[in-house]
Amino acid sequence: MSEVVSYERDGDIGVITVDNPPVNALGHAVRQGIVDALDKGLADDGAKALMIIGGGRTFPAGADIREFGKPPQEPSLPDVVQVLENSDKLLIAAVHGTALGGGMEITLGCDYRVALDSAKMGLPEVNLGLLPGAGGTQRLPRLIGAKAAMQAIVEGKPMKAAKLKDMGVIDEVVSGDLKAEAIAYAEKLVADGAPRRKVSELSVEKESDNVFSEFEQSIARKKRGFLAPFHCIKAVQAATELDFAAGMKRERELFTELLNSPESAAQRHVFFAEREVGKVPGISKETPKRDIKQVGIIGAGTMGGGIAMNFLSAGIPVKMLEMKQEALDKGVALIRKNYEATAKKGRMTSDQVEKCMSLISTSLSYDDLSDVDLVIEAVFENMKVKKQVFGELDRVCKDGAILATNTSTLDVNEIAQSTNRPEDVIGMHFFSPANVMKLLENVRGEATSDEVIATVMDLSKRIGKVGVLVGVCNGFVGNRILHKRQAQAVKLVNEGATPSQVDKVLFDFGLPMGPFAMADLAGLDVGWRIREGLREDDPENAPERDWMDALAEQERWGQKTGGGVFDYAEGDRTPRPSDTAMAEIEKYRKEKGIETREVSDQEILERCLYVMVNEGAKILEEGIAMRPLDVDIVWIYGYGFPVYRGGLMFWADQVGLDKIHAKVKQFYDESGDPVWQPSALLEKLASEGRKFGDL
Ligand code: COA
Repeated sequence: MSEVVSYERDGDIGVITVDNPPVNALGHAVRQGIVDALDKGLADDGAKALMIIGGGRTFPAGADIREFGKPPQEPSLPDVVQVLENSDKLLIAAVHGTALGGGMEITLGCDYRVALDSAKMGLPEVNLGLLPGAGGTQRLPRLIGAKAAMQAIVEGKPMKAAKLKDMGVIDEVVSGDLKAEAIAYAEKLVADGAPRRKVSELSVEKESDNVFSEFEQSIARKKRGFLAPFHCIKAVQAATELDFAAGMKRERELFTELLNSPESAAQRHVFFAEREVGKVPGISKETPKRDIKQVGIIGAGTMGGGIAMNFLSAGIPVKMLEMKQEALDKGVALIRKNYEATAKKGRMTSDQVEKCMSLISTSLSYDDLSDVDLVIEAVFENMKVKKQVFGELDRVCKDGAILATNTSTLDVNEIAQSTNRPEDVIGMHFFSPANVMKLLENVRGEATSDEVIATVMDLSKRIGKVGVLVGVCNGFVGNRILHKRQAQAVKLVNEGATPSQVDKVLFDFGLPMGPFAMADLAGLDVGWRIREGLREDDPENAPERDWMDALAEQERWGQKTGGGVFDYAEGDRTPRPSDTAMAEIEKYRKEKGIETREVSDQEILERCLYVMVNEGAKILEEGIAMRPLDVDIVWIYGYGFPVYRGGLMFWADQVGLDKIHAKVKQFYDESGDPVWQPSALLEKLASEGRKFGDL
């Protein structure tokens, strides 16, 4: 008997238990173990029915994702489910935790399903760029109908036991001790002479072709660029048109296509990257973490308020500090307004709104921050102001309090030096809108202690963020790369491209919007004010005035003023080509004596994306990001880099570093622009035929 699956008898019921921590993934040993345990149960004359259950925290949570892409080992998961379904004895699945993917498919190979009220089940393969390939696309439609099955499989979300009971997936929901309850249920089925119910033998109602094409259309925009959702639909459609055996064959073909697709490889990379990103090399799991029971936030503006909401929503009390009562009142009212808007959409109850609001307190005095465990400063982006704030915090905060800055551009080390406890200082760079965006760049200063890092990384998860640890530099990981791309986008327009052309190329690549639509969304005034500041403080090194400045000077600040690089119709966010902007662009080209040329889409793609890869490589070289996967996660969660491309550095590996390096070098030779100076790391990897993923 395999160690990961055991068989024992409890009264009249033979119990097969899967015990493969942490999540009972259905790797080869487990699959073989289930088949062996089933044989035992079938040979056990005392067992009138058999039951399969998960040990530890969950029923199997899916196929072992680490085995995907490796040579397959028999028995395959579809075979195991078939062997279960062919069993001569009544078979019951007893579910707790999360029966996902292959786990749920195992339950569909059983006659009856009983689950704890807290259990969830679902087919999330689509999130890995796959489809449920162990009969899920053929059995689920037979159990609950094609429409409901298609919805569940394409959404890929875990569903609660009560809902599954309503849908007809689960037969019985129990509470308390699952094993005891499930055995009692099985005994009752035996006593009642309950019939066998092989799901594959149920008939499935035929649906008109429209049902599938309309569903496809309904997801087309949201799932742009993904392959798997559309293959899932095809597989479910096959269940309604073919007999079970032929449907299984079709499912296998579609599954294999997905398994070998670059989209799935990318999505599987992202699955593991998301989990890896929280683990900091050199900081062990055992590093003590500080208890964060109350948080202070300085600044009740849009950013401060957005940051506060993360903590309130997670049930952590927040004390907000401002210099004027009016600003506090305004800030608190905005938070309430945001929560109430969420409640209106049905995503929160009014009790939950009140609960969150009750966790806010306000103050006009730093002295009131003496008891908080963490303070996050979200004041005006100016070093002098920030240093004053940290000086005050150093004076009032208790020993062991973590002092965090939400700066997006300033030197965290310099800020830390304005305190006598730089080891307690860290950056927490939230992205706007801070209550929505999942990315949180946690910025490690030279002196930041491991304990503070471990606490803040852990806290990121608690407040529903994806925390990525980065080092100090201008713009950190995300914005530093973004700014390089933005500069290329502007140069491409100077040379002859239009803003619409540049945006279209990047949109078609899979980004949610192009660089100019993004600038209009953020506001052209933001960059303009920063450049103006530089022109005043450091005229020699400040950037030259260009057409983006000219637009900002005319108060064309983007969406908020009805026009920026593009024009916007009232109440509509669709960017439209703007004559005003084109006139400014022409004027600038003339002033600079630029002779325009036709710029190809290919050049736009290469210059906008390869400059990012080169910068990403420099960021790795300098240790600002710890691993390529950290850059990937920053760009996926902060800027909507397409998940089906796996993130910036993963995508670069797929393109080929030798190819990218050659282009980077060519652009450097042509332009002399230091941004194109090839990163030493990129150069080395390219010359050795290696990838970022090999690091
Ligand atoms: N195969 C291999 N490893 C898996 C796995 C799977 N199907 N599911 C989870 N793991 C691993 C994780 O990588 C993690 O490993 P680590 O501790 O080395 O980082 C560990 O199990 C715990 O997972 P984690 O996600 O951190 O725990 P959680 O309690 O937050 O969530 C699940 C548990 C099961 C809900 C979540 O892991 C999940 O959604 N897994 C994928 C399920 C899935 O897609 N199944 C279909 C596969 S075809």
